[in-house]
Amino acid sequence: MGESLEGMVIPKHVALILDGNGRWAKRRGLPRTMGHKEGCVTVEKTVETAARMGIEYLTVYGFSTENWKRSTEEVGALMQLFRYYMVRLLKIASANNVRVKMIGDRRRFDRDIIDGINRLEQETRDNTGMTFVIAVNYGSRDEIVRGVRRLARDCRDKVLDVESITEETFASYLDTAGMPDPDLLIRTSGELRLSNYLLWQLAYTEIFVTDCLWPDFNQEELEKAILAYNKRERRFGGVK
Ligand code: IPE
Ligand code: IPE
Ligand code: MG
Repeated sequence: MGESLEGMVIPKHVALILDGNGRWAKRRGLPRTMGHKEGCVTVEKTVETAARMGIEYLTVYGFSTENWKRSTEEVGALMQLFRYYMVRLLKIASANNVRVKMIGDRRRFDRDIIDGINRLEQETRDNTGMTFVIAVNYGSRDEIVRGVRRLARDCRDKVLDVESITEETFASYLDTAGMPDPDLLIRTSGELRLSNYLLWQLAYTEIFVTDCLWPDFNQEELEKAILAYNKRERRFGGVK
């Protein structure tokens, strides 16, 4: 770890919107899919760096419910990359004592990808280090609607009493049930929007946007974000 983080508070949960793979490739005159390939290498490195820094939860937006709108060629290439990196991730997770969890609606993927996701979660379940959460076919509104359906069913079946529903009850129906809310959100490539990511969970998260394109993201960039986070004053609506 760089000297620069000495004495710094390491955020417990870092959420990441990895953006800019396409622009990275375009600048080099390469097809967009090459940017995604390079982006996967960056994800691997970031998992190792974050685990080493002592971050407890790292949640990465890998594929949104809206990304299906892209060309069949690009979506197909992304699916192939999932297949390949799920296997690699199993090794990296084991080597770094990392537990892997996927959020999002996995039912839309091909059977072998669903099996791969389940296997990755099961085989890393007992690891005690960082939890690496990958958001795939994830959209916050979709997550909320899926959660509300289950909640409504439980009310109908008298498992849950309508009047007893609290914020905690609702949160327990989301894909992120049991996880703390993110402390820091990092978005690469400069876009100032949430793109349907963790809308409920990011209520009081500190936001850091960097112009760095995702494939160029590295430990130094992560340290910059943590330094900025340390300069923020988190009030949660109160007065300091
Ligand atoms: C992020 O990079 C990866 C995914 C959304 C899958 P983009 O593919 O969105 O890259 P840009 O935004 O077009 O540069
Ligand atoms: C957000 O990036 C989704 C992921 C990083 C997986 P997008 O590139 O899809 O977001 P927009 O379209 O710029 O909002
Ligand atoms: Mg993008």
